[in-house]
Amino acid sequence: MDLGLKGRRALVTGGSRGIGRAIVDLLAAEGASVAICARGEAGVAATVAAVTARGAESGIKAYGEAFDVRNESALKGWFHRASDHLGGVDIVVSNVSTRPSAMGMQMWHDGFESDILQHVQLTELALPLLKTGVNPNIVFIASIASVMTNLPPHEEAYGAMKAALINYTGQLAARHAAAGIRVNAVSPGPIFFEGGEWDINRIERPQLFAAAARLPAMGRLGTPAEVANAVVFLTSSAASYITGANLRIDGGAIKASNF
Ligand SMILES: NC(=O)c1ccc[n+]([C@@H]2O[C@H](COP(=O)([O-])OP(=O)(O)OC[C@H]3O[C@@H](n4cnc5c(N)ncnc54)[C@H](OP(=O)(O)O)[C@@H]3O)[C@@H](O)[C@H]2O)c1
Repeated sequence: MDLGLKGRRALVTGGSRGIGRAIVDLLAAEGASVAICARGEAGVAATVAAVTARGAESGIKAYGEAFDVRNESALKGWFHRASDHLGGVDIVVSNVSTRPSAMGMQMWHDGFESDILQHVQLTELALPLLKTGVNPNIVFIASIASVMTNLPPHEEAYGAMKAALINYTGQLAARHAAAGIRVNAVSPGPIFFEGGEWDINRIERPQLFAAAARLPAMGRLGTPAEVANAVVFLTSSAASYITGANLRIDGGAIKASNF
């Protein structure tokens, strides 16, 4: 299947590690230019170097900056420099989530800031440029936590904010379909990678890890590449009639019909 991604221009927030990095690598492999951001400079530099090396053969461009997406002016500055560097924007993958470390009301304020507000700001920045893009679309990385009612207390706000993100996805899809902009979400189940959340839980919260490992009907955690495959499909022209969708990528963790 030709995904039609050659020459397309993609922004991926949190592209230095885990699911975001797998999405960056796959987009670049399909011939798309990619701009990323993350807080850690080393991760950004390594990712940009990897995409640049690939671009030596394919001509794709890479761009990256290290900053916190909750910083509105930094996000705005990166968006404009990144889209200038790529010569426009066709694809936005809004991937960052920063798990709150506080509990109580502060957790809810932090969750709103990191799982809703920065997605909204990026969307508001991107919509005018997407209107001039090729098969333009946005993919939000949500979570199966959005429909779970047995989350641990420290994930209470996270689950509720991911549910709000899926509602926002649907509203954007309906509002911007006439302008040719598709908007979708994916909801991963537990995804394992070295140094990631489930690697940390495996060591620090073994009971939670064991419960998560029992959740998927397929009997294992997923990989970042398995999420990236679905995300990159949704960004592609092969998904040209898909908008407003929330695709679970969870190995059958959520035991419900998907109406
Ligand atoms: N892993 C899972 O099991 C799972 C399951 C369901 C949903 N998800 C969702 O998938 C997405 C990616 O999660 P992940 O587990 O692959 O990776 P992650 O460990 O959450 O890191 C994601 C990326 O975001 C960057 N990042 C985090 N906070 C940031 C901030 N405030 N500003 C800028 N960059 C920031 C990280 O780099 P720096 O730390 O250097 O900033 C990294 O590049 C999230 O939306 C998460 O909620 C993950």
